[in-house]
Amino acid sequence: MIILKLGGSAITNKAKIKTFKNKLMDSLSESIKKSGKQMIIVHGAGSFGHILAKKYELNDGYKNNGQIKGFSETHEMVQSLNTLVLKSLVKYGIPAVSVPPHSIVKLDNHKLLKIDFKLFKDYLEKQFIPVTFGDVVLDKKLGFSICSGDLLVEALAKYFKPEKVIFAIDEDGLYTSNPKIDNKAKLIGKTTFKKLEELSTILDKHADVTGGMSGKINTIKIISKLGIESVLLNGNKPERLYKILVGKEAKSTIVVGD
Ligand code: IPE
Repeated sequence: MIILKLGGSAITNKAKIKTFKNKLMDSLSESIKKSGKQMIIVHGAGSFGHILAKKYELNDGYKNNGQIKGFSETHEMVQSLNTLVLKSLVKYGIPAVSVPPHSIVKLDNHKLLKIDFKLFKDYLEKQFIPVTFGDVVLDKKLGFSICSGDLLVEALAKYFKPEKVIFAIDEDGLYTSNPKIDNKAKLIGKTTFKKLEELSTILDKHADVTGGMSGKINTIKIISKLGIESVLLNGNKPERLYKILVGKEAKSTIVVGD
């Protein structure tokens, strides 16, 4: 079984509110279908989540009544993105089923307090492909906060011990420095979590509401410590996703399990 995270920056245009990359999603669905692999798909929120979540400061928890409207608006948007993802998957014959975090996850000061793993397990056993996503959720200490796709990936990897976790992002993989601002940045082919430890200090610290790239490196570190391989690849190149899904080589960064 594989866990596939479709980053919000891959499937949406992160700078423009509510812009879904429909054609790209269709090609990703085609790759997923062709691979015939059993998996859990987790997708990010991109411009369907981050813009409003930031505006209403939802990750800081409850501060004022205006945020209630903001929570609801953000939730409606990420849910609509989930429907678009689901539509594409189903169109390509994938037995996808939506598992919305707001109804099965509770956080406590941003940390996972509870999650209904059994629901995922039951669907997987029946050969469905559960599709979950970054969402706004209730938080015991803060009232509410954001459950990122990466937090879900971490929890699901710990529980299901997949053969690998694939992150489809908007770059070819991990670089020695931020490729968006440094043209000397080199793509890392294969690495270990120890090397990532050094990297996270030099990578772009500019973060979105759920931690950006340094947050992702932390997630990957946790996955490696579980002995599970992580692969970071360019979500804009669906043929690479297909190759990695079926165990072939493709341009990517592989972080071997410890
Ligand atoms: C964020 O989810 C969820 C909300 C902002 C509501 P993610 O953190 O998983 O989204 P991406 O992948 O960064 O877009």
